[in-house]
Amino acid sequence: MGKGGSDQWNPDQYMKGAMGDLRTRPAVDLLNRVMHDGPRRAVDLGCGPGNSTRLLSARWPGAEVCGVDNSPAMLKKASAIDTGIAWQLADIADWEPVGDTDVIFANASLHWVPDHAHLFTRLARSLPSGGILAVQMPNNFAAPSHSLISEIAERPEFQAALAGRLLGDFVQPASFYHSLLRALPGQVDVWETEYLQSLTGDDPVLEWVRGTALLPVQENLSSADFQTFTELYRARLRQAYPMGDDGVTVFPFRRMFITFTAD
Ligand SMILES: C[S@@+](CC[C@H](N)C(=O)[O-])C[C@H]1O[C@@H](n2cnc3c(N)ncnc32)[C@H](O)[C@@H]1O
Repeated sequence: MGKGGSDQWNPDQYMKGAMGDLRTRPAVDLLNRVMHDGPRRAVDLGCGPGNSTRLLSARWPGAEVCGVDNSPAMLKKASAIDTGIAWQLADIADWEPVGDTDVIFANASLHWVPDHAHLFTRLARSLPSGGILAVQMPNNFAAPSHSLISEIAERPEFQAALAGRLLGDFVQPASFYHSLLRALPGQVDVWETEYLQSLTGDDPVLEWVRGTALLPVQENLSSADFQTFTELYRARLRQAYPMGDDGVTVFPFRRMFITFTAD
């Protein structure tokens, strides 16, 4: 999934039905805390299908807006509508901002990128005075949706293929980001929110996770093994997230938000 890896992302699965709105809402909540009047340039790191990038261009019509992603499939979807946004195929781990980048925005992407001490310090230090780094990452890795993946991955038939390859290994506790950024000249704000998401349909949590955290499992197993894995996971998810009598499955999802404004 990283640079040079295969591209497993499926923008249609990611944004399917009500999931598109639920996945974009944290980007809206994050953007509401980005107090910049008029950036010259705003960059959306890990822009995916462009849902978060379009929020930036609507908020700051005078800014140069650029979406960066390393998935050709996601960028193809993002650039299908002509919005005046520039799209760049690049890996966040190597990406360097140009000097007038006043806002670096990353919604639901940096948890795929390693070495957060280095990454967050590098991005925060690149900002001009008054520039803002704004990040949202899922922090749901202890919830059954994610812990069941780790648990099933430990089974002898999957262990060798999946060890060290699951999503979430890079994310640190909120206090880590607060301390790291507090040491730099600027203001830091870190908070967490749990969204009680109402999903409908059969196996809706599985459908949700198929678009994200199951991708590394799919990428590293044969299709037969992935099928076996999915059926085990589906059964456990049904117990962990039962459907209510009204047909709604409640899927609580915790997310971490970070902003840093450079002095
Ligand atoms: C979960 S999607 C988020 C999409 C969008 N920002 C949103 O708010 O819904 C994560 C995106 O990050 C991208 N991504 C993951 N690792 C990356 C990396 N190392 N460099 C660039 N993009 C990356 C993926 O290709 C994917 O499009």
